Amino acid sequence: MRDLTSLGLKTVGGRVLVLDQRRLPDIEEWLDGTAPAALVEHIRRLSVRGAPLIGVSAALGVAAHAERGASRTQLEQACASLRAARPTAVNLAWAMDQMRGVLDAGGGVGELVKRAEAIFDQDAEFCEQMANHGAALIAPGEGILTHCNTGGLVTAGIGTALGVIRRAHELGRNVHVFVDETRPLLQGARLTTWELGRLGIPHTLITDGMAASVLARGKVQRVLVGADRIARNGDFANKVGTYALAIVACHHGVPFHPVAPWSTVDLSCASGRDIPIEERAASEVRGYSGMRWAPSDVDVFNPAFDVTPVALIESLVLDRGVFSRSALAQGLSGVAG
Ligand code: MRU
Repeated sequence: MRDLTSLGLKTVGGRVLVLDQRRLPDIEEWLDGTAPAALVEHIRRLSVRGAPLIGVSAALGVAAHAERGASRTQLEQACASLRAARPTAVNLAWAMDQMRGVLDAGGGVGELVKRAEAIFDQDAEFCEQMANHGAALIAPGEGILTHCNTGGLVTAGIGTALGVIRRAHELGRNVHVFVDETRPLLQGARLTTWELGRLGIPHTLITDGMAASVLARGKVQRVLVGADRIARNGDFANKVGTYALAIVACHHGVPFHPVAPWSTVDLSCASGRDIPIEERAASEVRGYSGMRWAPSDVDVFNPAFDVTPVALIESLVLDRGVFSRSALAQGLSGVAG
């Protein structure tokens, strides 16, 4: 396998390494995810996270397993266990279906490696296309609010929503980013601020509950978020809190855009009601990183994602172009090509 490098994922001498996103921003530690069982654990624990990156890393994991002499049965098992590691982001299933397709067509180690490398390269290319389409929407001096983390850490390239913001910054649009903290696992506070700081993009951190008043004060002209699965009708799942943000944006007449690669579209889901939503451990809501602030036995509901209906979207930014809410009324099937 070629040596590949992105902000949160690399292959070195056939080994798959992931930057431990649980320890950022303070500690930059690379974990070995070459063995599929280890990679499954890194994905479940969110050491490697974000819809595109879990798919790309899983594909590289299967390829590395093949290079190390895994049998066909072992490779099928690896595809199945990686596919099941997280249920909402369809990119993971999409990548595993591609690797399974190579196996089912009788492909050997060389074909598996080629496909995994192509998934990595294509993801980076998708990012460039989303960035160019999305940046064209942004006027000089805009305040942009974003949720969760959608940058270089979660793709093979520059990111989805954060990639658009980065491109707008590079084009001199003089943007200022408001970063939702993103409870419960603080992907915004820990990761998006880390990325924006490295890129020199001006930003301000807020808690999720402050977004409404920041919009009410007129500080935000656009909301850009990622997506974990987009249904045929344009409804989409993203990090919990996205739906509330979309309602607030709609109330204030602020355009709201999900940004995602085609690998996030699931034409088999007719609407958001068909998207499976991952529920995670109660401990993530009772506290964080070893610290607990709620009673240890308090009842908790912890869905990791919510569904935003297409009615709240101004337009959807895909690598294939920008699709307005009215264009989405025709459904996404027509966009497949
Ligand atoms: O649970 P996470 O941190 O993997 O959730 C990530 C998100 O919700 C992102 O917004 C989404 O994957 C899009 S990232 C390009």
